[in-house]
Amino acid sequence: MLATARTTAAEIAAVGNGSESERSQSEAAQRGYRVLTEKAVLSSDFTQEVFDNLWQCWPEALRGKAEAASNDERREMAFARYGLTPRPDDPKKPLQYVVDNAGNWTMNCFSCHGGTVYGKPFAGAPNNRFALQTLTEEVRRTKFKLGKSLSRMDVGSLVIPLGTTNGTTNAVVFGMGLMSQRDEELNIIPSAPRQFVHHDMDAPAWWNFHKKPYLYIDGFAQKGHRGLMQFMMIPENGRDFFVNHEDDFRDVYAYISSLRPPEYPGKINSGMAEQGRVVFEQKCAECHGTYGNSEPYPNRRIPLENIGTDSVRLTALEVAGRQKYARSWFANANEKDEQTTVVDPDGYVAPALDGIWASAPYLHNGSVPTLWHLLNPSERPTVWRPLNQQLDPEKVGLTIKVEEKAPITELDAALRRSYFDTRRFGKGNAGHDYPEELSDAQKRAVLEYLKTL
Ligand code: HEC
Ligand code: HEC
Repeated sequence: MLATARTTAAEIAAVGNGSESERSQSEAAQRGYRVLTEKAVLSSDFTQEVFDNLWQCWPEALRGKAEAASNDERREMAFARYGLTPRPDDPKKPLQYVVDNAGNWTMNCFSCHGGTVYGKPFAGAPNNRFALQTLTEEVRRTKFKLGKSLSRMDVGSLVIPLGTTNGTTNAVVFGMGLMSQRDEELNIIPSAPRQFVHHDMDAPAWWNFHKKPYLYIDGFAQKGHRGLMQFMMIPENGRDFFVNHEDDFRDVYAYISSLRPPEYPGKINSGMAEQGRVVFEQKCAECHGTYGNSEPYPNRRIPLENIGTDSVRLTALEVAGRQKYARSWFANANEKDEQTTVVDPDGYVAPALDGIWASAPYLHNGSVPTLWHLLNPSERPTVWRPLNQQLDPEKVGLTIKVEEKAPITELDAALRRSYFDTRRFGKGNAGHDYPEELSDAQKRAVLEYLKTL
């Protein structure tokens, strides 16, 4: 087994055998996992019939293979094409969609937050292969062929781009777009369509949620169960829907809080890792904290001009939007205990690095494929694509091929989305130059140390 952390609700329940409150937390976590995997909280995206027919609009070579394949093989091909995985506790079902008894597929949080750790399905790992744009386009074409009506996602994607590189999504803009149609109490209000700054992001790993007091890369929103419900703001879900689902999302909060990272599966040179720890504590810990002790995670925000990573995410979310969030139902869970919202953050928060080997690619936009590249800023590739799902044990991260350019005239847009082009808007790989101060030997030692986190 590659990853050893507990991933399924059943495993979590088995561990929670301590005190009464531990037991009730672990039961809540277990219920939370069930909410995510079994309760459809959006309108359905497509039916089993549509899913089973998607292969018919694949590019010719792949279509030929699919035609000759068995049903099971075809399903595996579809999962590979769209970045879906079997549910760890119920492999007949996908992790990323709720599938009901009638065969309706409805996207869930795991579509972005449940991927694989180098090939092994892992709930809470960022889904670094999710091909939402390609899946949606091919669903639309298939529905058209079968004479089925379009879902909200099918139509919405004509207006808002979903993601231009597999494994990253325009998720932050989905949230802004949906919130612009609501008042602060989440009642739906008529409003003219607005322009947003579209940009793709790599979802963060959920296993560090328990450490963080504030969420998102700029750390603007204090943690609370209501904030987890933003993704459900489709027009079908009125204010009542949110109020009625609060308990479910208290459980989802418990579930996300219960997650821990997987352990590095390969060999670690412990002498070298120990040298790396010393360097890390001198050069990195002031921002990223120390590990293996009870010191709190520092949650430090670094101004943009200092960190120097891609600025688009920070500026795309406007102060007015954050102010509205601060006043909204999401940020005011209970009157006694006021939640804080930072309406004008000036940079990005240094993430906790537990399990960092398992959440490639790196930086908030996913522009850096390995930890070695993160530590060697001048060697970062301009255009790259993942070759397979294997861990690169030397560089620690995705196994990639560096490319001259992404195919631009390529008819198959799906193929283009497997390339990461750091020259595109919001996808820059510059910044975080702190490792420049380290010698090559120190960098190797730090890389070894990062495997132990
Ligand atoms: C379409 C992809 C997508 C879906 C679906 C999605 N998220 Fe996210 N999520 C993201 C991205 C991208 C971020 C990073 C946003 C940022 O930092 O600005 C994020 C951030 C978060 C964070 C903050 C994590 C941190 O460490 O700061 C939490 C918690 C979270 N999502 C929970 C959820 C829940 C719960 C759901 C389902 C109700 C959900 N997400 C659905 C893409 C998604
Ligand atoms: C001055 C503060 C600061 C220092 C010093 C610093 N970092 Fe960071 N680090 C950050 C911030 C902020 C980010 C997030 C940047 C982003 O995503 O745009 C980050 C991101 C990272 C990431 C990527 C995290 C992810 O989830 O993608 C890694 C890995 C990392 N740092 C390792 C290190 C190491 C190793 C050192 C020491 C050599 C170091 N950092 C020094 C602030 C710092």
